[in-house]
Amino acid sequence: MAVVETRTEGDVGILTVNRPEALNAVNDEVIDGLVEAVEAFDADERIGAMIITGGGEKAFIAGADIKAMSERSYMDMFMNSKMNELTRLTRVRKPIIAAVNGFALGGGCEIAMMCDLVIASEKAKFGQPEIRLGVIPGWGGTQRLTRAIGKAKAMDLVLTGRMMDAQEAERSGLVSRIVPPESLMETAIEAAQAIAGFGRPAVMVAKEAVNRAQETTLAEGLLFEQRLFYSLFATEDQKEGMAAFIEKRQPSFKNK
Ligand code: HXC
Repeated sequence: MAVVETRTEGDVGILTVNRPEALNAVNDEVIDGLVEAVEAFDADERIGAMIITGGGEKAFIAGADIKAMSERSYMDMFMNSKMNELTRLTRVRKPIIAAVNGFALGGGCEIAMMCDLVIASEKAKFGQPEIRLGVIPGWGGTQRLTRAIGKAKAMDLVLTGRMMDAQEAERSGLVSRIVPPESLMETAIEAAQAIAGFGRPAVMVAKEAVNRAQETTLAEGLLFEQRLFYSLFATEDQKEGMAAFIEKRQPSFKNK
C-alpha cells in the first residue's frame, strides 16, 4: 500500500498520508509521495482543488519521522536531505485544504500551514514539540506559525512544546473551521468542490494574492492585488460570472 494514497471526488484530488502505525510520520517516501501527488493534481486540468488528510483515527501527521532522522549528521542533513523537497507543496497554484483529523505536530503542523485552508476535526491537536527533541521546527514552524497566530502564541508553542486543541487553534487564527470528526471529510470535500467550481484563473490568482500578503508591504500588496483584479477582465469567466449575476442564473465557468 502506498504511503500516500490518492483518489478523486469529481474535480477534487484527495491525498491521504497512510502510515497510521507511525501516526503518519513523514519519511522520505512520504515526502516523495506528497510532492509527486500534489504536483500531478496541480498539472491535471480536471482537478480544481486538493485535500491533504491523515490515515487512521489518531493523526493528521505527527511530524517528521524521528526514528529515520535520529542518527543523521549535519553533513547528511545539509548535503543529502530530501527534507527541502517538501517546500514544493507551497509552489503549486491550485488551493490545498488540510483536513486535520488528529495530531498535527511538528512537521505535521507545518504541512497544515503550507496548505491554503485548515479545516480541523474537534479532535485535532496542534503543536511544535521539536524543542523536546533538542531541535527546533524546520519546515516553517517558527515563521508561518508566528505569522498565523502572532508572536505570543507562537513563542509559547515553540518554547514549551505544548499542544493546543482545535478550539484554541481556531481562536488563534490557525484553523478556519472546526467540525465534528465524522463530518470532517464531507466538509473539506464540499469546500474543495466549491473552490473547484469557480473560474480557475480567479481561484489561482486569489491564492497568489492572499499569499503575497505574507511576503510584502501593504502598499505593494494592494498594487499587486489591483493589477490581478484588472487582469481578470481578460478572462471569459469574468464576463460569464457577471452576466450570470445580472441574468439571475448560475454561472458556467470555462476556466479561460
Ligand atoms: C516516528 C512516530 C512519530 C514520529 C509517533 N510515532 N510520532 N514515529 N516519528 N514523529 C510512532 C511512535 O513511536 C509509536 O510507534 C506510534 O507512532 C504510536 O505513537 P505513540 O507515541 O505510542 O502514541 P501516543 O502515546 O498516543 O502519543 C501520540 C503523540 C506521540 C503525542 C503524537 O507519538 C508523539 O509525541 N510523537 C512525536 C511528535 C513529535 O515530536 N513531532 C515532531 C517531530 S520533529 P511504536 O513503534 O512505538 O508503536 C519534526 C521536525 C520537522 O517534525 C522539520 C523537519 C525539517
